[in-house]
Amino acid sequence: MSADILVTRHVYPAAIDILRSAGELDYHDSSDGLTPADLRAAVAGKRAVVCQLTDHIDAAFMDSGSRLEVIANVAVGYDNIDIAAATQRGIVVTNTPGVLTDTTADLAFTLMLSAARRIAEADRFLRSGRWQQWEIDMMVGHDIHGHTLGILGFGRIGQGMARRAAGFGMRILYHDAVRADADVERDCGAAYVDLETLLREADFLSLHVPLTDATRHLIGAPELGLMKPTAVLVNTSRGPVVDEAALVEALASGAVASAGLDVFESEPAVHPGLLKLDNVVLVPHIGSASIKTRTRMCTMAAENAAAVLRGERPPNPVNSEVLPAR
Ligand code: 8YV
Repeated sequence: MSADILVTRHVYPAAIDILRSAGELDYHDSSDGLTPADLRAAVAGKRAVVCQLTDHIDAAFMDSGSRLEVIANVAVGYDNIDIAAATQRGIVVTNTPGVLTDTTADLAFTLMLSAARRIAEADRFLRSGRWQQWEIDMMVGHDIHGHTLGILGFGRIGQGMARRAAGFGMRILYHDAVRADADVERDCGAAYVDLETLLREADFLSLHVPLTDATRHLIGAPELGLMKPTAVLVNTSRGPVVDEAALVEALASGAVASAGLDVFESEPAVHPGLLKLDNVVLVPHIGSASIKTRTRMCTMAAENAAAVLRGERPPNPVNSEVLPAR
């Protein structure tokens, strides 16, 4: 019997159990992703694909002899998928919202603390044997408490960041294309401001926008130029939201103080300028990387794919317009 479901990369085994109950699998149980050509060859004849952010899912993939009904992304973001092309072909795309909100907000907060208090730099300093004596101004950084956090993108993860910041006694400002309801603002202790005010007033700027045409290079040289020279930039959203070359320049010249980055413009490549700087904390896209959350993301994607194969409505459609009206 030919397989119905393509799983493009290694996932947690619990997801495989769910998928096996829904159809025959073509499981590429490897950490090495398939090339675009191999992906196109593998999708032929499939009704479902379970994919990850490293898989570029475009119209050519969808048209490669597949019978695709569902593309289940193991991620909340779906900028790796051509949604318009899927919608045009009546293919439902699903994602994994909610489950990773707190895990990712935890990481954003960790990066903010680490950059402000120079944790990675201090660790390197100690390990390299350079710590010879205690000094009054050794590895001094910036306070979090009593300072202003600017949140750009006030969805689930941005709001999670605000809730954490409230516990640290921060003033919280946010900007989003859509202003949040008054009760959400009250609950998070966050005030809405325009983008320029956010950039000018933030001591810490944390990015939580999806990657779209409107947000690509949203933070570039002009925006970095508006920020305080003492400001810290945190990015756990998508790399291309920041103009990486402009950020290197701003960090090197002191236009901004430091940064904590989980995401990069051309992952897994990192701008060589960033690697040379001490005032930036770099981690390899681990925002949602707790065992519990990554396991749940895999099972959610599997449940989405399985539901469609059984003729049911998937729990997390992105383009619900392709589904029959309820
Ligand atoms: C994932 C993410 O680790 O969910 C997202 O959008 O960026 C991360 O949480 C990654 O996308 C897994 O494919």
